[in-house]
Amino acid sequence: MDKDIIKEALDLQRELTEHSYRYHVLDDPVISDAEYDRMLRRLLEIEERFPKLSTPDSPTKRVGGPPLDAFEKAVHSIPMLSLDNAFNDEDVLEFHQRIVKLAGRDQVLYIAEPKLDGVAVELRYENGTLVRAATRGDGVTGEVITENARTIRSVPLKLKEDRLKAPALLEVRGEVIIRKSDFEKLNQTRLEKGESLFANPRNAAAGSLRQLDSKITARRPLDIFVYGTGLAQGLEFQSQSGMLEILQGFGFPVNPHIRTGLTLAGVLQAYKDLETLRESLAYEIDGMVIKVDDLGLQQLLGEKIKSPRWALAYKFSAREETTTIKEIIVQVGRTGVLTPVALLEPVNVGGVMVSRATLHNEDEIRRKDIRIGDKALVVRAGDVIPKIVRIFPDRRNGTEKPFAMPEQCPVCLSKIERLKLDRSYMNKCVNASCQAQLKERIRHFVSKKAFDIEGLGRKIVDQLVDEGMIRSFADVFKLEAEKLAELERMAEKSAGNLTQAIEASKKISLARFIYSLGIQHAGENAGKLLSQRFSSLEEIMAASVADLEGIHGIGPETASAVHGFFANAENQTMIRQLLETGIEIQNDRPRAPETPESPFFQKRVVLTGTLAAMARSEAQALLEAAGAAVTSSVSAKTDFLIAGADAGSKLDKAKKAGVRIMDEAEFLALIRQA
Ligand code: IVH
Repeated sequence: MDKDIIKEALDLQRELTEHSYRYHVLDDPVISDAEYDRMLRRLLEIEERFPKLSTPDSPTKRVGGPPLDAFEKAVHSIPMLSLDNAFNDEDVLEFHQRIVKLAGRDQVLYIAEPKLDGVAVELRYENGTLVRAATRGDGVTGEVITENARTIRSVPLKLKEDRLKAPALLEVRGEVIIRKSDFEKLNQTRLEKGESLFANPRNAAAGSLRQLDSKITARRPLDIFVYGTGLAQGLEFQSQSGMLEILQGFGFPVNPHIRTGLTLAGVLQAYKDLETLRESLAYEIDGMVIKVDDLGLQQLLGEKIKSPRWALAYKFSAREETTTIKEIIVQVGRTGVLTPVALLEPVNVGGVMVSRATLHNEDEIRRKDIRIGDKALVVRAGDVIPKIVRIFPDRRNGTEKPFAMPEQCPVCLSKIERLKLDRSYMNKCVNASCQAQLKERIRHFVSKKAFDIEGLGRKIVDQLVDEGMIRSFADVFKLEAEKLAELERMAEKSAGNLTQAIEASKKISLARFIYSLGIQHAGENAGKLLSQRFSSLEEIMAASVADLEGIHGIGPETASAVHGFFANAENQTMIRQLLETGIEIQNDRPRAPETPESPFFQKRVVLTGTLAAMARSEAQALLEAAGAAVTSSVSAKTDFLIAGADAGSKLDKAKKAGVRIMDEAEFLALIRQA
C-alpha cells in the first residue's frame, strides 16, 4: 500500500472527525456540508480499495453496517440505576434533610441537570476507541447496539485527547434524544410514506436505537448528552461537575443548562428557571435531576437497590391527559392540504388548556380507529400542537361515530383531490384562491415570528378576508383605520392601534421576511440561515439551488423549495407589490450607520479564541454597534479575524484564506477608536 494513500486516509479521518465534532457537538462548523461530503466520499473510496484502513473509529462508520439477526445481551459492569422521583418542593426538602443527617454536615452543594426525556445508553471506550454501546435494559442487562450508536454523529468514535490522555477503559453514560423539530420532520416523512407515527421523541429515539439494520438508524436524527460514567480506569473524579468537564474534554456533548454550586434554595430556584426554559428547549425534558456534587459524599451516601441516595429526579407535571373527542372537523392549510382536527372536551395538559388536537390525515385516523365520542389520550410532545396518541376502545358505549373525509373543500366547496404522496394519500383543495388557504397564509404572515402584528389575530384575519379587505400580503399594509373601525367588534381605538402596529411592522429583518412568506420547508431557522449567508432579498432571489444547498443547515428539499418559490412569476409579482407598500427589509445583523468611520463598519468579522478583556458576546455586541457583521465561520468573504488566546482551526483557515488577522490588543485599540 502506498505511503501517500495511508497518509491521505489518516488525514481525512482526522479532519472529518474534527469537522463532525465541530458541527454536531460544538455547533460551530468551519466548512460547508458539500465540502464535508466531498471529503467523506474520497475517504470511502480509499477505504473501499484498502479495507485495512477502514478502522472502527473511521468517520465512514457513521453510515451503518450490515444488518444483525438479533441483539446480543450486555451485562453492565456497574448496574445502571434509576432515580427516585420528587413532585414538589417538600419532597426535595426531605431529600436534602436526609442527606444532611447522613452526611453529618450542614453545607451540601448540588448540581442540577435537565432530565432528558430519551433513552439511556452506555458507551464503552477501550484505549480511547468506542468498542461497545449498550442500552440500559433492566439496569443489569441491556442490549448491544454498538453499530447503531456509531451512527450518532455526536457520539465520539474516538476520545479527543486535547487535554487528557484517553484512559485504558472508560464507560460513559448518557441519554440519546431526538430534537423536537427533527421529530416533527421524521413523523411528517412517515406520514407521507403511510407509516405509523411515533407518539413522542422518546419513542422515536428508542425505536431508532432498536433497529437491527444500522443503516436505518443512521438516517434517524439521533443526538446524545452524557451525564455520568460507569467503570473508569485511570481517571480520578472529584465531583460530578468535574467529571462532566472531563467528559466534555473527551469530546462528548454535555448539556449547556446544567447548574452547579447550588444550595437547597439554589436547587429550588433552578427548578423554576428550568420549568420556564422547558418550552423553548430544542428537545424534551421531563424534569430536573438533582445530584450531590461531591463524589466523596456520594460514596458515603451510597445506593439503595434501585436508586442512589445522592440523586433525585424532580419531575415536571405530565403532559398527557385523557379526554373526550366531541367532534372531528377538517381544516384547510396554507397549501390547501386538509387536516382532520379533533375538538376535545377542554382539558389541562401540563399547564395548558387543550381543546383541539391534530389527527394528521385520514389514514392515521383509520390506523388508530379514532371515532367521534371516543375517550382519548392527548399529549403535548415535540411540537406544541397536541396530538392523540391512542383511544380507549374498552371505554366505548356504542354511540361513537366513525369519521369520513368530505368530498368537497369545507370552505370553498371545490372538489377535493386525493393526491398520492409516497405511499400515503393527502386530500387537497386545489383552488388557489380558496379563502381558507388565504387566511392561513395571512395568519402565518402576521404571526409572532413573522411580521408580528399585534392585534391581527385569527378572528380579525378571518373577518378581513371574508370582507374582501385582504386578498394578498400587500393588502395588509393598505388597511385604513376608518375602514377597520367599520368592522364588527372593532372599536375606533383598536382600529387606530392596529394601523399603528401595521406601520411599525414594516421594518422587518430579512430572516423574518423570508419566514413570513410561508415557503414550504423554509421555517424560522432557514430564514435565519439565508439571511446570514446573503445580504439582501435580491441576492436570495437570484441564488441557484447549488448556492442554497451550499449553506450549512439547508437541505436539498428546502433549497429546491426556496428556489422554486422565487422562480415563480406570481410570487415575484407578489413580492414586488409587497415592497411597493413601503416595507423596509433589514438584514439581521444590526448595522450602525452612524459609525461609518469605524474600521469595522460593514465588515464581516469572525471572533475566535479567548479574549482577556471581555466575553466574546461583549466583543460581538461592540463590533455590531460599530456596524460589523459578526459571523461564526471563516470564508473568503471574511474581512477580519480577531484571534484571542488558544485560537484553533479558524485561525488556520483564515491564514489560508488570506483573511486579515488581528490580535486582541489591536482589536481593542480599533474598537475604542470607533
Ligand atoms: S443520572 C444513578 N442524569 O433518567 C443516576 N439520568 O430515572 C442515574 N436521565 O435512566 C441516572 N437525564 O435515562 C441522570 N441528567 C441525567 C438524566 C438522567 C435523563 C434518565 C436516565 C435514567 C433515568 C433515571
